[in-house]
Amino acid sequence: MRILNLGCGTKVSEHPNVVNIDWSIYLRVKKNPVLRRVAPLLINGERLNGFKTIPANILVHNLAKGIPFPADSVDVVYHSHLLEHLDRDIAKHFLLEIKRVLRPGGILRIVVPDFERFAKDYVHHLSVCENDKGEAGKHDEYISAMISQCVRREAHGTSHQKPFRRFIENTLLGDARRRGETHQWMYDRINLSWLLIGLGYKNPVVQQYNVSLISDWNKYMLDTDLHGNEYKTDSFYMEAQK
Ligand SMILES: C[S@@+](CC[C@H](N)C(=O)[O-])C[C@H]1O[C@@H](n2cnc3c(N)ncnc32)[C@H](O)[C@@H]1O
Repeated sequence: MRILNLGCGTKVSEHPNVVNIDWSIYLRVKKNPVLRRVAPLLINGERLNGFKTIPANILVHNLAKGIPFPADSVDVVYHSHLLEHLDRDIAKHFLLEIKRVLRPGGILRIVVPDFERFAKDYVHHLSVCENDKGEAGKHDEYISAMISQCVRREAHGTSHQKPFRRFIENTLLGDARRRGETHQWMYDRINLSWLLIGLGYKNPVVQQYNVSLISDWNKYMLDTDLHGNEYKTDSFYMEAQK
């Protein structure tokens, strides 16, 4: 059984069946013996701790160059909170590249922010505000859940840095969009299944964080934390087959 965890970030599986793949700037710096020593001069605090604890079992690869596996060679491809960061045209090519490496009958499991839930919460809060004027101050939180990551300019980590470090890092690495931190599109059960069917995938189905067509999915601990709880609670899960 071979499972690819694409755009894994720091959420890797230790299981030997899983190949964790990412291309983050921190990971590339960490894998470079010279840059690894310079990094503490640029980042500090929580981010430095994050840098030091980047898991070792990650294959450093830029997925924009394709997936480094032969056709029909993979049983499961999984990606979490990655698709919404891709331009919509690139997302199509990415999903086709995944189809190439999946074996016939292989499963694609996609995790994305749950746009339907954000939208329903937003609409519900409109009526809450109509009945209680004091709620208006909270209303932007519901709009923020849907669009803040689409319109963000500065990278999340950088905004908490002191001015000098912030300037250096922004100059070297660019803004949130250049770093791929912004959301380029959002998905729900309708547009994602439509997209998958259009690309030739079969049987798209909505799943739960701990339910899957993949046998023993929970043992890989990709959608759960150490206690078995949902890892990213604002998520929507969909699976389809090649
Ligand atoms: C929002 S994070 C999600 C991380 C993790 N999957 C999770 O759910 O916590 C998106 C990840 O995709 C990675 N990524 C984005 N573009 C990539 C590319 N072209 N090649 C490899 N990884 C990429 C980023 O480095 C980042 O770690």
